[in-house]
Amino acid sequence: MALRRRFLRNTALFGLTPLVPRFNMDNFFPASFEAMDSMGDDELFTLIRNQLLIPPNRIYLNTGSLGPSPVKILDLVHATMRTLEMNPVVENWGTLGKQMEAVRELVAEFVNADKEHILLTRNTTEGLNVVAQSLKLQPGDEILTTDQEHGGAMVGLDYVANNQGAVIRKMSMPMPSKSEEEIVHTVKSNITERTKVLLLSHVNTITGLVMPFEAIARITKPKGIILIADGAQALGQIPVDVKAMGVDAYACSGHKWLMGPKETGLLYVAPDFKPQINTAFTYSGFGSYSASSGTRNVATLIGLGAVIQWHQEIGKDRVHKRCLEIRNYCYDHLARLKGLHIISPEADMLSCGIVSFTLEEAKNSEIAHKLKDQDIIIKTLPGINGNRISCHMFTSKKDIDDFIQALGKAI
Ligand SMILES: Cc1ncc(COP(=O)(O)O)c(C=O)c1O
Repeated sequence: MALRRRFLRNTALFGLTPLVPRFNMDNFFPASFEAMDSMGDDELFTLIRNQLLIPPNRIYLNTGSLGPSPVKILDLVHATMRTLEMNPVVENWGTLGKQMEAVRELVAEFVNADKEHILLTRNTTEGLNVVAQSLKLQPGDEILTTDQEHGGAMVGLDYVANNQGAVIRKMSMPMPSKSEEEIVHTVKSNITERTKVLLLSHVNTITGLVMPFEAIARITKPKGIILIADGAQALGQIPVDVKAMGVDAYACSGHKWLMGPKETGLLYVAPDFKPQINTAFTYSGFGSYSASSGTRNVATLIGLGAVIQWHQEIGKDRVHKRCLEIRNYCYDHLARLKGLHIISPEADMLSCGIVSFTLEEAKNSEIAHKLKDQDIIIKTLPGINGNRISCHMFTSKKDIDDFIQALGKAI
């Protein structure tokens, strides 16, 4: 099974050119691909932890801000850069350029899209800005969103509002959200006759809430509301199926939960919506290299393809299950501590690898500093005196035990 998957991945990545042995993934993950299927979770995820450059005694709980790349991916990026430097033009628009272009196929398959609807970007913010700058709204038209969105999504919406006279309405989401019905009701009751765009995070950056997009698309589609998803916190920790979600656009980053090279991302634009995406960036097509994109960093984009292959080999569902298992373990232990309130949902179907809390008396930045002194890295949540914990597949229960003990003392 793994061998067949690997063959398919390699075919997709290298199908446009003769297979180049130095980029065969086997050379970068010796033995591990065959063995992954038969390994138990603890063995596999320990192996993955050991492929990271994070020192053994550092507990890294901030993948939501930036994920660590496996050393083999870094080696691949480095090797690709060196190959490029040996014959820059010939490689950039030859062998390596074709491999970079083939990465779009891998990315498309990973999110269940067609290659023609995938644009390789530098990050989520860029993808959302491309979409925002294409919106054509009338003064008084409403863009509906929540009061828990990331600045990377809001900056584009603010731009549209300022330039076209559109109004941004921010609905407040319950913290914690209790059920899909509650969320759908909140969205439904905030839509008005003037709502033209709805932007929501697939996984919320503050609480980790997994937005029930399929149910929301059933509301927006008949009304002709453009549905935009900010997937920055989703890709690489929960399976993403853009078609099933019913979104018009989906933007995300490769450098967070996917653990890919920094400054990589993707933008999906649904076939019906694509004609409306008319920024200069996409004007001459969606190819990785086009007149409007200019020269790209082939090495990092090939690294993005490789990290996607790696996730496919591990299995999206297996990664998702592991993130949830570790998060639940963290949630249960946090719930026993005094002096904090968990603001992430409890229900599995609304949850992923993120768990966040606000503090009653202690100050979030002081807590984060005290933990950093012990080499435990967490994220502060500005504005709500909270902290966010990212539990990825490489996070162990022992990491969580040590974190909880340090947090309890710090509070
Ligand atoms: C929900 C969300 N959107 C957008 C971003 C911005 O991501 P990037 O810097 O990769 O564009 C983040 C970063 O944390 C995020 O959490």
